[in-house]
Amino acid sequence: MLKRIHKNQVRNGMFIEDFVGEAQDNPISRRRFIIRDADEIAQLKSSAISGVIINTALGVDIGETSSFAKDRAKSRSAVLAAANNPLERLRTIHNLRESVDSLRGVFSSAAQGPSAKAMAPLADQVTQTMKDNPLVLLNITRLKSKDEVTFLHSIAVSALMVRLATHLEFDAATVQLIGMAGLLHDIGKTQIPDAVLNKDGKLAEAELALIRKHPEFGHEILLREADMPQMVLDVCRHHHERLDGKGYPDGLAAAEIDVYVRICTICDVYDAITSARPYKRPWTHRDAVDFMMEQQGAFDRELLHEFFSSMELIVDTRRRRAS
Ligand SMILES: [Fe+2]
Ligand SMILES: [Fe+2]
Repeated sequence: MLKRIHKNQVRNGMFIEDFVGEAQDNPISRRRFIIRDADEIAQLKSSAISGVIINTALGVDIGETSSFAKDRAKSRSAVLAAANNPLERLRTIHNLRESVDSLRGVFSSAAQGPSAKAMAPLADQVTQTMKDNPLVLLNITRLKSKDEVTFLHSIAVSALMVRLATHLEFDAATVQLIGMAGLLHDIGKTQIPDAVLNKDGKLAEAELALIRKHPEFGHEILLREADMPQMVLDVCRHHHERLDGKGYPDGLAAAEIDVYVRICTICDVYDAITSARPYKRPWTHRDAVDFMMEQQGAFDRELLHEFFSSMELIVDTRRRRAS
């Protein structure tokens, strides 16, 4: 919900949609952002604007005493405390590790898809990314408790992205960030009500519009974390953009979509169509190749060729071994 409030009512955690008043004296050059510290509040108060428009769906409401922020801080400190408790930490990692391991079975059963053997080191790398980064651990644990399907999809996308980035010979630090971006790309789905997210059958137009908000929701969640790498923010917000400009939420042109986002888009769609869902059978690797190669304007063609050619190598090896 959008609300117009006086500038003196601005507090931490509010999502600012726009300024009210002297347009030429915008104290902060950005629009659509979360108030994160006292400096930003002071800048707004001392400026010539009279007020702001806040979005209560994306941030703290007026009179809410930052409960949203408090809840986040509470669960964040609970996970961080758990992370410092060796036994709790082991339990969490073990729990997530089991889910990552279960994916090996999924990958190995996908006809002619990446083999379990090829995915095994990736599962290790994905687990390591979760272990090394409390923020990833926190958010991925939340996602797991909210929606197991999206959780498993995020791990699979992360593994595929790491695989493609390694094939493209990106440096180790970049590969690590790409893995993190894959894990968090759909984190905005934690904001979609279960009734919509897990609905059987056709979605109403309003429900579809809400689901299509998940990149923006995710971006806002990650923006609230200090030091979130820009690449992770970009991948989260833009993974449903298309090179022909027909994607969402920003309808970016090809030149505005960077290589990391392009990698995510390919891995995201490949995993979605080759995975089993309650309402559909998984496509075979061959069908996925045919479908994705036929799409015009959605994917980066060169990266798509790299993605599939790196997989064909694995498929070939398996064929050779079998013959
Ligand atoms: Fe998504
Ligand atoms: Fe996704």
